[in-house]
Amino acid sequence: MKKDFLTLRDLTGDEILALIERAIEIKKGGRKLERRFEGKVLGLMFVKASTRTRVSFQTAMFRLGGSTIFMTGTDTQISRNEPVKDTARVLSRYLDILAVRTYRQEELEEMANWASIPVINALTDKYHPCQILSDLMTVKEKIGRLDNFKAAWIGDGNNVANSWINAASMLGFELVLACPDGYRPDEGVLDAAGPNVKVVREPVEAAEGADVINTDVWASMGQEKEAEQRKIVFKDYRVTASLVGRAGPGAVVMHCLPAHRGEEIEEDVLEGPHSVVFDQAENKMHLHQALLETLLLGATE
Ligand code: CP
Ligand code: NVA
Repeated sequence: MKKDFLTLRDLTGDEILALIERAIEIKKGGRKLERRFEGKVLGLMFVKASTRTRVSFQTAMFRLGGSTIFMTGTDTQISRNEPVKDTARVLSRYLDILAVRTYRQEELEEMANWASIPVINALTDKYHPCQILSDLMTVKEKIGRLDNFKAAWIGDGNNVANSWINAASMLGFELVLACPDGYRPDEGVLDAAGPNVKVVREPVEAAEGADVINTDVWASMGQEKEAEQRKIVFKDYRVTASLVGRAGPGAVVMHCLPAHRGEEIEEDVLEGPHSVVFDQAENKMHLHQALLETLLLGATE
């Protein structure tokens, strides 16, 4: 039966851990091809920009022996208001699996409801679950464990933050998010979280003793018009060397990228010894390979 991956909660905690183990195994195997899915086609329907998610999914599918078709919002009939339900049914007749990057989570859900093939959330305004899987893989590599660590989130309570909250709820690690008033994570996502997830005002409170300090841009895709206002609101929500100094020994600094140096993160921190941002970016490819394998196998069972 087909299984979609629209939010982290579409997996169990054990399934998340298994995907991470598999991705680590794939990484250890080097750049070898595993032609297990020859003839299978991954479609990528991206109505927002992407470097990492797009290229890592395309490379991962190539390594599995399959191929990919990349579509944007402007070169498909979606741009001329063809209904999602028609697009989903048509694409299902051609493709074996579909990754979607769009604005509204509800639109992704509609696509998945009408598609007869697995649909993957490659980022919406609400969630970025693929990002968190590869982030957790990076934590496992760098910190060595996924249950007992403290993660800090500094800045906007955005799509990446929401998915981190889901991860903390499911795996039990401590997550403290420092967000300005009015820019907290989704309240429904917070309500479903356990006491190990806390939102505070002060970045230092979040960073104190943390094993992971994580941040993201002040204005996400689709919020370009708010960018100037957000620069004022978020000016104290920066990952600086002094903030990293409050973290625990061996702490890592994470950022999903793209980063705005001098805004949410200082250049010296991004390029410094605590930063694992390029490992995070690489791990997207290994993790996406593991995810594609799992969903493609599930769809043929
Ligand atoms: N981190 C991430 O999703 O990057 P892209 O927007 O480049 O895909
Ligand atoms: N929060 C960012 C993440 C980009 C990978 C955005 O949605 O633009």
